[in-house]
Amino acid sequence: MAAAVGQQPGPAAHGVHQQDASDTPVPSLFTLPPVIRDALETDSSHIQDATVDECLPFLTGREHRYLNSHGIPRLDKARHARFLTKQLGVLPSAYVGADPSRPWIFYWCLNALSLLGEDVEPYRAKLVETVRPIQNETGGFGGGFGQASHLATTYAVVLSLALVGGDETFEVVDRRSMWKWLCQLKQPDGGFQMAVGGEEDVRGAYCAAVVISLLNLPLNLSPESPAYAAGHTDLLSGLGEWVRLCQTYEGGVSAKHGVEAHGAYAFCALGCLSIIDSPHRSVRRYMDVPRLISWLSSRQYAPEGGFSGRTNKLVDGCYSHWVGGCWPLIEASLSGPEGPTAGPAGRPLEATDADDSLFSRNGLIRYILCCCQDMSKRGGLRDKPSKYSDAYHSCYVLSGLSSAQTKWRLVASRADETLLGDDRWEASPHTSGVQIFDEEDRIATTHPVYAIPQHRVDEIRSYFLSKEGF
Ligand code: FPP
Ligand code: ZN
Repeated sequence: MAAAVGQQPGPAAHGVHQQDASDTPVPSLFTLPPVIRDALETDSSHIQDATVDECLPFLTGREHRYLNSHGIPRLDKARHARFLTKQLGVLPSAYVGADPSRPWIFYWCLNALSLLGEDVEPYRAKLVETVRPIQNETGGFGGGFGQASHLATTYAVVLSLALVGGDETFEVVDRRSMWKWLCQLKQPDGGFQMAVGGEEDVRGAYCAAVVISLLNLPLNLSPESPAYAAGHTDLLSGLGEWVRLCQTYEGGVSAKHGVEAHGAYAFCALGCLSIIDSPHRSVRRYMDVPRLISWLSSRQYAPEGGFSGRTNKLVDGCYSHWVGGCWPLIEASLSGPEGPTAGPAGRPLEATDADDSLFSRNGLIRYILCCCQDMSKRGGLRDKPSKYSDAYHSCYVLSGLSSAQTKWRLVASRADETLLGDDRWEASPHTSGVQIFDEEDRIATTHPVYAIPQHRVDEIRSYFLSKEGF
């Protein structure tokens, strides 16, 4: 995909215009089937071909009424905000199966709305009223009333509280019972179960690290923890070593040891490692970074421009975040706060392509704006053109768009290893190379580790930093 970066647009049609596909300014990398093909035909190759056929009319502009001079449609912020606002309201009875995902629906919608520049503070009361009854006395949050606590829903609640902000909002969390529950989830091998007696995987490692660091929980481990007898005295001890074992022979990261690598787990691993220490130390210590970069790079496809989640699978808008969100953490792990001086093998880092990125930002932006927007009355963002939009894809497609538009730099690393997640990150618009989207289509930035706006991370962290103990 690197070949796409920095390509100059063809004959430019100036301003927003009604597109004629014959004079498309889109580079041929995005308008033609792949040049290099594997001759082996399988079910996977057939659905891959069908996906390319499905995306090409959107990539070439035939399915869009208005395109800018780079052949890119506008981001219809108002349409998508309407979709998300509706998702936060009373949903039809067909959604009853989504009841255990209510914290998730809050996080996806509030985060997506924030990225679109909407004020989500008016949702404070509604959020607090929803999450207060789903907190269990034994610690953590379930998905709905009367449901057992789960790390995924607890993570979604904590991020949602952070998104709406406010001291009274934060007070909802019972930190003491949360700490006790996390001690129960901590396992003798260093990892975390998602629920008491539930599965142990890399989501657990990331969700636990996010919750512990945002709520400033004490790190000492209670003697009742299953991990205590195995010699752990600290909630995070052995976690980096556990995450390391999830890197597979392909170079990617799997949910747990010995299974298939998937982009969502690569983000969880990098996020977790970037919390337990600054990424230029922890990621380089626990991951084989060149092999991970190679696997992540293979996730970006042409002509689609978007990412797949795993080898031989299809492009999907949500990986714009799960894979796209890995790049700022990888870049920070290579550069550290001193800037791009030291490569993995001690070599100086060099820009490898015209826009100084490890992936094709413009390829991803093209996929998102051309293929992932539902431009019908429904609105919202989607996996691919043949799929319906939903809150989950809206959140992660927009998060990926934000990462592609932004240059993140780790400007100061924590003074002390115990100050979890206390690194200073700085965002600026990514400016090198050709900007193919209109400036009005720039969206808000999202913290590379916590996937919510940076000022929301700062607010919740400083609130709980003022609380020592319980
Ligand atoms: C496969 O779906 C998807 C997975 C194996 C990973 C799902 C995990 C997440 C989205 C991460 C959750 C993270 C947190 C923080 C809780 P599929 O087979 O439908 O998709 P594919 O064909 O694209 O692999
Ligand atoms: Zn998806």
